[in-house]
Amino acid sequence: MDAHFGFTPGDTILITGAASGIGRATALAAARQGLNVGAWDINEENLAGVVQEIRDLGVRAHGVVADVGDAAAVEAGMAATARELGAIRMLHNNAGPPSSVPLEFTEAIGLCVGSVQKVTDAWAPHRPDADSAMVVTSSVAGNVIGTNSDWYSASKAALAGYVRHLAAYRSGEFRSNAVAPGMTLTPRIAPFAESEMGQRVLERIPLGRMASPEDIANATLFLLSPSAGYINGVFLPVDGGWTVTQ
Ligand SMILES: NC(=O)c1ccc[n+]([C@@H]2O[C@H](COP(=O)([O-])OP(=O)(O)OC[C@H]3O[C@@H](n4cnc5c(N)ncnc54)[C@H](O)[C@@H]3O)[C@@H](O)[C@H]2O)c1
Repeated sequence: MDAHFGFTPGDTILITGAASGIGRATALAAARQGLNVGAWDINEENLAGVVQEIRDLGVRAHGVVADVGDAAAVEAGMAATARELGAIRMLHNNAGPPSSVPLEFTEAIGLCVGSVQKVTDAWAPHRPDADSAMVVTSSVAGNVIGTNSDWYSASKAALAGYVRHLAAYRSGEFRSNAVAPGMTLTPRIAPFAESEMGQRVLERIPLGRMASPEDIANATLFLLSPSAGYINGVFLPVDGGWTVTQ
């Protein structure tokens, strides 16, 4: 069942990495709240499917095939989303590569952290005058626990720091918060979840299950909503209590 967070139907949210997992769940939950959805992804085929699913819920959706690491694509995508859906009140900075991909450290930090900075700066001029908010999908990785990917842990911790900067110095423009999922059952995590290590993690989660993408979407939408109007600069683990058992 969807929570009611006080959104104004017809407002617009932009979600990066909207074609799968957490981004898709946020997009569909936002649509069920009556929000119009700007959906960005690099996977054209999956994106087209999600855009159709959003429209089937009776709201407007606009898909943009864009790599958030590409500055020109981000600028062009932002202009296209604003042209199509009007002022963009909420931003979910969610896209990012899986930790299982071997990436060169410096390049990966530039991609994962730089892309969030690029999307945020491109979005800022397209907000309405007041009551805007941004949420980054960070992770418990790097912030609370160490994981075996150096660039993943480092970039997720850096994103939490970037959010604190925004919350302190850009609060006149928008609120900024970070959601930190624990192990969440999305396509990228399925092989790990089935591994011996994944099963060991599962045994240590006090709530006895992995997060669903909808669990993360609900926390994200709450922080973006008017119901969280005085919450700025928090780092919210959504992990079933996993990290307090470490
Ligand atoms: N699944 C987990 O357990 C977990 C835990 C903590 C944090 N996260 C974070 O949540 C976010 C979403 O992950 P997910 O599990 O839903 O993954 P997912 O693979 O299901 O979805 C990610 C989507 O982002 C898109 N994408 C990837 N790179 C992109 C780019 N450069 N530009 C535009 N789109 C891009 C992909 O095509 C995909 O559709 C990521 O930032 C991830 O690091 C996930």
